[in-house]
Amino acid sequence: MRVGVLTGGGDCPGLNAVIRAVVRKGVQEYGYDFIGFRDGWRGPLENDTVPLDIRAVRGILPRGGTILGSSRTNPLKSEDGIRRVKETLVKQEVDALIAIGGEDTLGVAARLSGDYGLRCVGVPKTIDNDLSATDYTFGFDTAVNIATEAIDRLHTTAESHMRVLVVEVMGRHAGWIALHSGLAGGANVILLPEQRFDVDQVCAWVESRFKIRYAPIVVIAEGAMPRDGDAVLKDDTLDSFGHVRLSGVGEWLAKEIEKRTGKEARTTVLGHVQRGGTPSAFDRWLATRFGLHAIDAVRDEDFGKMVALRGTDIIRVPLAEATARIKTVDPSLYAEAEVFFG
Ligand code: F6P
Repeated sequence: MRVGVLTGGGDCPGLNAVIRAVVRKGVQEYGYDFIGFRDGWRGPLENDTVPLDIRAVRGILPRGGTILGSSRTNPLKSEDGIRRVKETLVKQEVDALIAIGGEDTLGVAARLSGDYGLRCVGVPKTIDNDLSATDYTFGFDTAVNIATEAIDRLHTTAESHMRVLVVEVMGRHAGWIALHSGLAGGANVILLPEQRFDVDQVCAWVESRFKIRYAPIVVIAEGAMPRDGDAVLKDDTLDSFGHVRLSGVGEWLAKEIEKRTGKEARTTVLGHVQRGGTPSAFDRWLATRFGLHAIDAVRDEDFGKMVALRGTDIIRVPLAEATARIKTVDPSLYAEAEVFFG
């Protein structure tokens, strides 16, 4: 059996841990051969490969990023994309493909396996934690730790200057990073894409915080939107999955707060810092277990499935089901956090 592996979409800490686990178990226990495809779906599309064996995965467990590279290439976008992907797999004698990615990369895997009979197994990743069917994706815990540490640090400088500090974190459609890091870091306001916010209400919380002589920290997800307005965009170019580039809502909100309250406000955009560097212990553990179970799914010829965390068990769910909708923050979870606002 020869197994192809690819990592697609935005990178996140833990991708290398999956690759290592897949290859180690596949070679040691099942005697499989592996081939890596470079830069997500671009690899099979353009027949761009890299050797993948035990030697190639030595020492990569704690390394961020992905040794295979990543991109947001969408083979379904080009007219002959499916034919080219199929041709590469035949040429490289690939019997099964493990795709490690988020909703976009796995959405392609779902289509290719459902409609075109490709033998795919999916592994869920994304710092946004917005894939349904799994309790957690790896990368999320590391991102939350990075954001929490940043919020901790911002508290002391905010207090020294009695300023409002707005912290913009990632989270396109789902505010999981904002909610978890905001709670863990003791934020005074948390704003998510799931619920439009009222700027006057935010200002009221900011002012009540100053009244008790503390400086407010506002954590906002990049996809959060004011009640009367649209998403704030970096620019309006679209990637090949049709996503716009976000970022800027933190800066916009800081200006509004200054204007409406007269208090000084500054913004910190954490950006890709949240995706870089070494994975947390939890993410290494989860990514490793996903990898071990993904190669078991290949051995069982259980294709069209994604491995997922349910409680402490790793289960398999249909790829089509897992990518049908994203997992957003439930209003009741957000309501829990509101006791700390203001
Ligand atoms: O999907 C994960 C994510 O980190 C989002 O939170 C963010 O909007 C996006 O990727 C940014 O991606 P990039 O800048 O790499 O295109």
